[in-house]
Amino acid sequence: MGRKPLIAGNWKMHATHLEAIQMVQKLSYRLDIADYERVDVAVCPPFTSLRSVQTVIETDHLPIALGAQDVDWRGQGAFTGAVSVPMLAALGVRYVIVGHSERRAIFGDSEADVGKKAGAVLEGGLTPIVAVGESLEQREAGETSAVITSQLRAGLKGIEPDVVARSVVAYEPVWAIGTGRTADPDTAAESVGVLRAEIADSHGDGAGAAVRILYGGSVNPGNIAAFMAKRDIDGALVGGASLDPDQFAAVVRFWV
Ligand code: PGA
Repeated sequence: MGRKPLIAGNWKMHATHLEAIQMVQKLSYRLDIADYERVDVAVCPPFTSLRSVQTVIETDHLPIALGAQDVDWRGQGAFTGAVSVPMLAALGVRYVIVGHSERRAIFGDSEADVGKKAGAVLEGGLTPIVAVGESLEQREAGETSAVITSQLRAGLKGIEPDVVARSVVAYEPVWAIGTGRTADPDTAAESVGVLRAEIADSHGDGAGAAVRILYGGSVNPGNIAAFMAKRDIDGALVGGASLDPDQFAAVVRFWV
């Protein structure tokens, strides 16, 4: 089906811009052209580091894509503290994570907010990474499929099938994020399959077959290969392990 894997590092609220410069430089020393041909690599630093990381990427001609961790859906105006899609686009940002569980749980992003953000990202010509995932209570109550399907529907609401096809979805069970407790690959693949089937249902088989769906939650060099061995899993959204260039490079080179 020709879905190129994407390994994206979510740095969360870590690293000053000076540290970020070093991180992306170190990462680049550990990867070579053959790696980038096989995998799309992205880093998502905090807003304050985007300009510095962009400069390193452009100066050194690195095939590393720049991503942001969140965005506001409004174009401009009196919204203190907010950052818009055009601002990110001007920095060469390619991917924007929307709906990360930390945004939903800590900052109160609703399903509708996530949909508006994804729509604004696509309208601005960038690619959303729409993150969905169930909590432990929801999993134990047998609600996983219903929860992630509802989050996905809201996230992709009103988006045309051909546009959904070039979007990215990340399945990140909340109980696996930052806990060292990963979903086992079969469980992850099952949920990813549910998401792909939902997209095929709502946006057509073509979109379902083309959309890239990542797994996220305590991914590290030791477990990435097992996730990548699953036909429906097209990459990973990596938090903790993306902060260490050695570890992140090892995740990118998952087949080694
Ligand atoms: P983790 O975070 O790899 O540290 O579990 C993943 C994420 O939150 O995207």
